[in-house]
Amino acid sequence: SVDLKGKDLLTLAEYSPETIRELVQKAKEMKEAYLNGEIIAPLKGKTLGMIFEKSSTRTRVSFETGMFQLGGQALFLSSRDLQIGRGEPVSDTAKVLSQYVDAIMIRTFAHETVEELAEHATIPVINGLTDLHHPCQALADLLTILEVKGTLKGLKLAYIGDGNNVAHSLLIACAKVGMDVAVATPPSYAPNEEIVSLAKGFADASGSTISITNDPIEAVTNADVIYADVWTSMGQEEENEQRLKDFAGFQVNKELVAHAKADYMFLHCLPAHREEEVTAEIIDGPNSYVFQEAGNRMHAQKALLVELLG
Ligand code: CP
Ligand code: NVA
Repeated sequence: SVDLKGKDLLTLAEYSPETIRELVQKAKEMKEAYLNGEIIAPLKGKTLGMIFEKSSTRTRVSFETGMFQLGGQALFLSSRDLQIGRGEPVSDTAKVLSQYVDAIMIRTFAHETVEELAEHATIPVINGLTDLHHPCQALADLLTILEVKGTLKGLKLAYIGDGNNVAHSLLIACAKVGMDVAVATPPSYAPNEEIVSLAKGFADASGSTISITNDPIEAVTNADVIYADVWTSMGQEEENEQRLKDFAGFQVNKELVAHAKADYMFLHCLPAHREEEVTAEIIDGPNSYVFQEAGNRMHAQKALLVELLG
C-alpha cells in the first residue's frame, strides 16, 4: 500500500503507478465519507504553510478547507508579504518554515524553486503549480475520470492547447495509469521533450501510448476525455496577443469534439476563457465535468495530505 509519509509531491513522476492508483482510490473513499457527513480528523494539530507567488482560487481554497476538514490548519503565505519576496534565499525559507509547519505547499514560476525548497526542507513539500508541472491537478483529474468512466486504464485523453504545466502533469499521470495521451499544440508550443520521453517510458511500462501532434483533429479522434487549458498562462500575459493568433484552430468546439467518442467527457483545470480555448457551448454543455473536477481538487489533496502527514 501507499507509503508516502514524509515524502514530497513535486511532479508525480516519482510516484509509482500503484501509489497513484491508491491515492485516487483513497480520495474517492474520502469524498464519499465527506459527502456522508463523516468527520475524520487525522491531522489534528498539523499545519500546512502555503506559499503563493501566483494567483489562485481552487488551489488555495481547496488546500485550506481540506486541511481544516482533516483537523489541521493551513496558512496562506503570499510571497508579496514573505521575506522571500525581498530576496531571502529559498533554502533559508525552507529551513525556517520546517521548524513551524508540518508541510509546505508552494505555487511558483521556476520548477527549480520547488526543488530547492524540497531539498532544504525537512518536511514534505507539495507542488501547487510551477511553469512545468501541476501534479495536484492531475490527481484530481484522474479521480474525476474514474468517477465518470469507472476506469482509467485503456482510456484515451486528448489535450488541446499549450504544452506546458497541466499538459506535462497529465502526460505523466495518465501514462502511469495506462491511459493513452494525445497532445495537440501549435508548432512552437510543444510539450517539454524530456517530460515527453519520461512519459513515453511510463506508457511503455503500463501498455499505453503517447502521441504529440500539431493536429487537434488527430488528437481528439476516438478520445474518451478532451482536456483544455488557457492559451496564456500566469506570467505570460504580455504574450497574450501573439498567442491568440498562434492558437487559432486549437479551440475546443462542436466541430472538434465531433471527432471524439460520442460519450467523451470535457475537462479543464480552470480558470477558463470562454470562446478562446473552449466555446461556452462545450464547457457549459452536458459532456463537461469541469466543476466536479474543480471540487475534486479538495478530495484528492485531502488524500495526499493524509498520506504525507498522517
Ligand atoms: N486549476 C487551478 O489550479 O486553479 P487555481 O489557479 O484557481 O488554483
Ligand atoms: N496553465 C495555467 C494553469 C492554471 C491553473 C497557468 O499556468 O496559468
